[in-house]
Amino acid sequence: MQKNLFRLVLAGALALVGCGGGGGDDPAVDAGADVYVPPAISKPFPADFLWGTATAAYQVETGLDGTDWHQWEQKGKVIDGDKSGAPDRADDGPAMETHYAADLDRARALGNNTYRFEMAMARLFPTRAALTSATPDPTALAYYRALLAACKSRGIVPMVTLHHFVWPTWIHDVDDVATKGGWASESTITDFTNFATWSAKTFGADVDLWVTINEPMVYVINGYLGGQFPPGNFLQVEKALTVAYNMIEGHARAYDAIHANDTMDADGDGKPALVSIANHNRVMQPKNPADAMDRRAAELLQKLSNRVFFDAATGGNIDKNFDGDYDDPGDKKADPRLMNRMDYLGVNYYGLAVVQYIGNENSFPVIGIPRFELLETPWDKTEFNWDIYPQGLREVLDEMKGYQLPIYITENGIADRDEEQRSRFLVEHLYELQRAMADGIDVRGYYHWSLVDNFEWSAGYCPRFGLYAVDFSKPDKPRSEGAAARLYQRIIAERTVSPDLFRTLPPYPLQLYEESCPVLSPL
Ligand code: GAL
Repeated sequence: MQKNLFRLVLAGALALVGCGGGGGDDPAVDAGADVYVPPAISKPFPADFLWGTATAAYQVETGLDGTDWHQWEQKGKVIDGDKSGAPDRADDGPAMETHYAADLDRARALGNNTYRFEMAMARLFPTRAALTSATPDPTALAYYRALLAACKSRGIVPMVTLHHFVWPTWIHDVDDVATKGGWASESTITDFTNFATWSAKTFGADVDLWVTINEPMVYVINGYLGGQFPPGNFLQVEKALTVAYNMIEGHARAYDAIHANDTMDADGDGKPALVSIANHNRVMQPKNPADAMDRRAAELLQKLSNRVFFDAATGGNIDKNFDGDYDDPGDKKADPRLMNRMDYLGVNYYGLAVVQYIGNENSFPVIGIPRFELLETPWDKTEFNWDIYPQGLREVLDEMKGYQLPIYITENGIADRDEEQRSRFLVEHLYELQRAMADGIDVRGYYHWSLVDNFEWSAGYCPRFGLYAVDFSKPDKPRSEGAAARLYQRIIAERTVSPDLFRTLPPYPLQLYEESCPVLSPL
């Protein structure tokens, strides 16, 4: 079968890469027709490496009704009419706020020593007046305090996200974007900074690891270019750029606010706060490698996706017309208000995207679109039809080397309802990670997306990302452990990805190729 042939080619390519890597000692072993076994990596993961999972409030909590995403659901924009945590529905979310203690026990049993989660601004501050007067909703405050205490008592280091795609409607009202425009409005920078100030003051004693904004470019692209996220704009390039620059400014101001207000060192390493964004880093490959415009589009999109925010927040550089220099109107070079606002790089990695030139000069710099529909590529596919491309994790880590900052893999995971792919995906990605670290790349932690199945934005509950499956049809949302969870536990305990694991794992099943969830572009 053609895909088997592709897999063998991939195996060959991996063997070449593996032999060249600094960590490998043993010769690669080919255990048979379709099974590739890479060399062992002599250097284990460090003893203080952070192992965890990641979630976002709207995806796992109940009752976030005062939000733009709730409005979005009401407008029927989510597949099958799925709703996040609506208490009146049988198929609502995992209700983490009632299961968090047991879920953290599960995480701990896997050997996790960290957990990334979002503190929902809409839950804490249902109005702007509440925020400006620093008067949070008491129930919400009690919940996040309890969550932090539960982390602490289990030896789990919290990593806290402040903005993960969702706004309270008093900041972003899908029916009134003119006055409540979210990141399109400059006033949001102030609101966000106030939230960062309050969060750092309130939780600084327990939190050292902060993520200001999750996947800013995904937010920009899905909300203002692709139309899948609120406010659902399509190819509004000017607006998208405004949103992106407001987010860059918002991150810088929040960074300052956190450092000014979190002065308590929670983990005793002498640093009270480490702040970054969690950026969606994807490898972009041209749909037709022989086509110069497809190649150019892929290059530009990879820069937009992977480097624009990091360039701004590290070097203070904005190349507004993407011509490679910083001397045009709107450009910024070493802007002191933006630069040096990154203590580590948060990298979310899911795979590659095949990019096609769209030939629309008016849409510059968006001259290409990632194609996530079923395409004949050499790679196995997830339930989303995303290409599985573990070596891309190494490619994006290499791409980040120039920033000379420590890295945390703030998300990595796979949609896999039948638990047929997750184990291999996990092993292949952690192998690439261990090899990259053995070769000297400074990675401090890995957060698997996700701990439990949850609400996957416009795709609702079709894709299942959890190490623990959730039965959404039952009122008590029972969890069941998947095979990959045990494997994660083993890798954490052994601090290495043993080549034996490759020998025992079955190849990716081909049938998922046809039985995917509806395609959702993450970019
Ligand atoms: C990321 C996002 C998460 C989650 C994940 C899985 O882009 O930050 O919220 O949805 O993708 O698709």
